[in-house]
Amino acid sequence: MIRKEYIMTPGPTPIPPEVLLVQAEPMIHHRTPQYTRLFVEMVEGLKKVLLTRNDILTFASSGTGGMEAAVTNCFSPGDKVLVAAGGKFGERFTDLTELYGLGVERYDYPWDETADPNTIASMLKSQPDIKGVFVTHSETSTGTVNDIEAIGKIVSETAAILIVDSISGAGALEMHTDDWGVDVLVIGSQKAFMTPPGVAAVAVSNKAWEMVEKASLPTYYFSFKKARKKYNSDSPETPFTPAISLVRAMSKATRMLLDEGLEEVWRRHRILAECTRAGVIAMDLELFPKVLDRSYAVTAVKAPEGMSGGDIVRHLNREYGVIVAGGQDRLKGKIFRIGHVGYYNIFDLMVALTALEMTLKKLGFPLELGSGLAAAEKTYLEFT
Ligand SMILES: Cc1ncc(COP(=O)(O)O)c(C=O)c1O
Repeated sequence: MIRKEYIMTPGPTPIPPEVLLVQAEPMIHHRTPQYTRLFVEMVEGLKKVLLTRNDILTFASSGTGGMEAAVTNCFSPGDKVLVAAGGKFGERFTDLTELYGLGVERYDYPWDETADPNTIASMLKSQPDIKGVFVTHSETSTGTVNDIEAIGKIVSETAAILIVDSISGAGALEMHTDDWGVDVLVIGSQKAFMTPPGVAAVAVSNKAWEMVEKASLPTYYFSFKKARKKYNSDSPETPFTPAISLVRAMSKATRMLLDEGLEEVWRRHRILAECTRAGVIAMDLELFPKVLDRSYAVTAVKAPEGMSGGDIVRHLNREYGVIVAGGQDRLKGKIFRIGHVGYYNIFDLMVALTALEMTLKKLGFPLELGSGLAAAEKTYLEFT
């Protein structure tokens, strides 16, 4: 059988043909009016998608570079920060803040739940010297979504700044950066932004800039100050050579999101998530999150009793070319994750659900073929 691949992971995600094509255009130099035009268009587009007037700084790196930059630019050794972690990516903030010698107050919540804003409020109340709160928006490793609006309201009433990893969130899920009081928002190119991996961006508020002015951790490549100075010069650019072809791609993809309309983009992600969930539940599978705050970017599903999530992922890949993600870290083998963040429509999900039904059947799980598909179709019709 001819092999055709369907990438259904929560990043990297498929790239629309229009976005692929602009990357094939001839190289331009980054200290030219041509590049400046492209770069400004991307940054201004990102501001519209992220609903922010804050400075947006970009780096040639994957999303983690933006996370690390948030730590090193805003704090000094020994600064007390609160890290809410309930998954692999929340823990990355714990690792980074500990690595750089911050005084980390850990708020580790169960991986199948979300951060409780009241816990954050009481930690901030009892420890007013906390200077920063780190939270993951869409926790890709568990399929949950945190209530950034509620957390933002709490943090904005204190002297602390709110740093949010929205690498799998913004551009797919609602993110009102300014209205929700997010001081440093981190995004990456390879998920909702329908671009290959390699561009990280941060949106930095005035409150965060005040912290940046005082921070003493060293920064060089990821310096917010250097990046802002270059962007605010007569010909906006970056201090170092940018990922020019990726900027082209991200600029195009951002325009596509704006042309579709933010409300519509959010709605599309919600519908695909609901269809996927309806599909797996109809197959008698169980969703991993215990809570209802599930991310519209990814559906995390428990592997059925006696079956390994890894076997399901491998069978889907080997037999059907459908690439989904397994569980990470302590969830390895226990769950698998179907991505629907970025350039997907209902028929992409139908491919994933069909392959999943056939895989489960082959691996000996009792199910009626077509049950998941029927539920997904029914859900789709209810929404559209
Ligand atoms: C929520 C979240 N944070 C951080 C990362 C890490 O980003 P990157 O792999 O682009 O460095 C990812 C990537 O999967 C993610 O989903």
